[in-house]
Amino acid sequence: MSSDKNAISLDLAAKAAAIAPDFAPASAAAPATAASAWPPRFCCFVSGTDTEIGKTLVSSALLHALVKQRVRACGMKPVAAGAELRDGVLHNEDADQLIAAGNVTMPQSLTTPYMLLEPAAPHITAAMEGVTVEPMPILAAYLEIAAACDAVVIEGVGGFRVPLNDTFDTADLAQQLNLPVILVVGLRLGCISHALLTVEAIAARGLKLVGWVANETQAEMNFADENVDALKQRIHAPLLGRIPRLARPCAASAAEYLNLTGLPNWPARRNHI
Ligand SMILES: Nc1ncnc2c1ncn2[C@@H]1O[C@H](COP(=O)(O)OP(=O)(O)OP(=O)(O)O)[C@@H](O)[C@H]1O
Ligand SMILES: [Mg+2]
Repeated sequence: MSSDKNAISLDLAAKAAAIAPDFAPASAAAPATAASAWPPRFCCFVSGTDTEIGKTLVSSALLHALVKQRVRACGMKPVAAGAELRDGVLHNEDADQLIAAGNVTMPQSLTTPYMLLEPAAPHITAAMEGVTVEPMPILAAYLEIAAACDAVVIEGVGGFRVPLNDTFDTADLAQQLNLPVILVVGLRLGCISHALLTVEAIAARGLKLVGWVANETQAEMNFADENVDALKQRIHAPLLGRIPRLARPCAASAAEYLNLTGLPNWPARRNHI
């Protein structure tokens, strides 16, 4: 990336950070921006211990809870791999679920700046499609969405460190967005190490883990309680809830198992928009 591009990217990252002021970058040199005058709002980056462990379910549940409180909320799936054309529009399952759970309609070019066709690792499918996933369009889209909403929930891709191009991965993206992170732990054998490594990686990026969710993706897991206890002892962030294996997984049913009120900038209950 050229130094010009770096400068623009850093400026966008500073603006993005200004939206969630509790998480402003440590650098005193961060420029003051128009966004710094914005009222605090709930924004988060949802990551997971793996792919297919419930990030979309939890992101949708967060949006559902925000909408229930009459907050203008929008989800983002900035990089989606696996899309099909229907009625002239590309659809991705995750992106569609987030749209359904939110209540602010933004152009898909903003909520999913990179809609890739093949359901594969994003850097591979992007290369196949002649696309280079870059941070700037994502940061710019986030700022635009945040300007139009009171809350933004961004779903990551797969686990915490998924390559997006040769030099940029989802951890870099989370770092540039500088948002509080919510970690979804898919309860399965091996999840303790995956979760603890992810917690370390989040901290190593200077990001704040504001909560984690234990999600029972499997019908039955031996010693599930013991696994959750081991994680509770070792993860120094609140357990926001434990979602059981749901017969009909959806945002509303998952939200019933989450206690989100302690999250930074979580909106107070209000009766009108
Ligand atoms: N607690 C649960 N009970 C029942 N089904 C679940 C539960 N959590 C997730 N699922 C199902 O498991 C599948 C994967 O969940 P989800 O799409 O939320 O994972 P993800 O981490 O977002 O995956 P990806 O990495 O592909 O984005 C979905 O079909 C979802 O409905
Ligand atoms: Mg998903």
